Order: sequence, then C-alpha cells, then structure tokens
Amino acid sequence: VKKVEPKTVQLKDGSAVKIREAEPSDAKQLLESIHKASGESDNLSFGAGEFDMTEADESEFLGKCQAADNQLYLVAVAGEQMIGSLHFASGRRPRTRHSGDFGISIIKDYWGLGLGAMLLNELIDWAKGTGFIKKIKLTVRIDNKRAIRLYQAKGFVLEGTLRNEMLIRGQYYDLYSMGLHL
Ligand SMILES: CC(C)(COP(=O)(O)OP(=O)(O)OC[C@H]1O[C@@H](n2cnc3c(N)ncnc32)[C@H](O)[C@@H]1OP(=O)(O)O)[C@@H](O)C(=O)NCCC(=O)NCCS
Repeated sequence: VKKVEPKTVQLKDGSAVKIREAEPSDAKQLLESIHKASGESDNLSFGAGEFDMTEADESEFLGKCQAADNQLYLVAVAGEQMIGSLHFASGRRPRTRHSGDFGISIIKDYWGLGLGAMLLNELIDWAKGTGFIKKIKLTVRIDNKRAIRLYQAKGFVLEGTLRNEMLIRGQYYDLYSMGLHL
C-alpha cells in the first residue's frame, strides 16, 4: 500500500515534476542527485562527496523506509532526472514514535520554484493521516534564509538554537531547531 499517491505537479517555471515515494530501484539515481546537491550547498549535514552510502546500502535503506509506518522517503523527478528528495523518520520506541526529523534537498537548478513547499505539503498531509505522528522537526543553519522562510510558511516554530553544531572548512555554525506540532 502506498503512503502517498504519485502525482505530477507544475513548478513556478512551468516544468512538470513527478512526486512519489522512493523505491529500492531508485538508489543509483537518488545517490547521484544527493551527490550533486551536496556539491551545490553548504546547508546540508554532508559536503561534496561525503554522503558515503553504497548503492546496495541505499537500496536496502529505501526498502526499509517503504515498509516502515513511521518513515517517508519522497523523490521528485523531472523527465529522467531525480531533482529532489525528502526523508522523514520518527522514533522507533513508544516514547518517541510521535516525533520525527526530516531532511530535504533539491538540486540547485530547481531552487526557488516551489518544489520544497510541495514536498513538505506531502509530508505534512501524510503525517497527519497516520494519526500517531504529532510533531515534525528539523535543524537548519541559522543563515539558511530560504529554508527557514519555507518552514515558517508551513507553520514550523523556532524551538531553540544549537551552538557550533556544524563544522565546515574550519568554521563552526549554529543551527535552529524548529518544530511543527500537528
Ligand atoms: C531549502 C530548499 C529545500 C527549499 O526548497 P525550494 O523549492 O528552493 O523552496 P520554495 O521554492 O518552495 O520556496 C521557499 C520560500 O523561500 C523564499 N525564497 C526564495 N529564495 C529566497 C532567498 N534567497 N532568501 C529568502 N527566501 C527565499 C521563497 O519565496 C519561498 O517563500 P514564499 O513561499 O513565502 O514565497 C532548497 O532550496 C534546497 O534544497 N536547498 C539546498 C539544501 C538545503 O538547504 N536543504 C535544507 C537544509 S535544512
């Protein structure tokens, strides 16, 4: 049973993009898009070439996500190219199962076209539908204006500032912790 119905959406530049759940067979393309995104942004928790999952491990991971009721892995595909992804997982045990983190990344060519908002809408709708997920949270670099603006637009609120959480080329960066209470 699918958690999210596949759909084709139109971005602000008119391009058609398919949003659907990731499958194990997406591993290769997904890794390619993650590697591309990591070279284009210093806002991810890994830098260029630092996302070191093998295709086999990624494929297994995607299968587990698909089977788990507390995880969602979405991909966005334009033509043949994977252009973005979002992964959410809530806790495994009763005390943390209601609350989960997500990460999102889109390749640079598609920034600012509304895709982040669409992926997030799918996550929020699915999470509400589960009945047991009550909180979606994330951490974001405090200078990542675009991402923060997107999260605030979706109702996420600031819950705290985490000092020196990221180290990039010798410099430490603070993160905001943000949460959406469903
Ligand atoms: C952050 C990211 C997921 C946002 O997705 P996106 O599709 O680019 O964002 P959207 O087009 O949906 O728009 C986000 C909002 O930011 C606004 N925005 C666009 N460019 C902006 C900028 N340079 N500064 C501030 N706000 C900006 C948009 O207007 C929109 O707000 P609005 O709906 O009020 O108009 C995407 O840019 C990305 O993957 N970036 C690199 C990796 C990353 O930062 N991941 C998040 C880590 S926490």
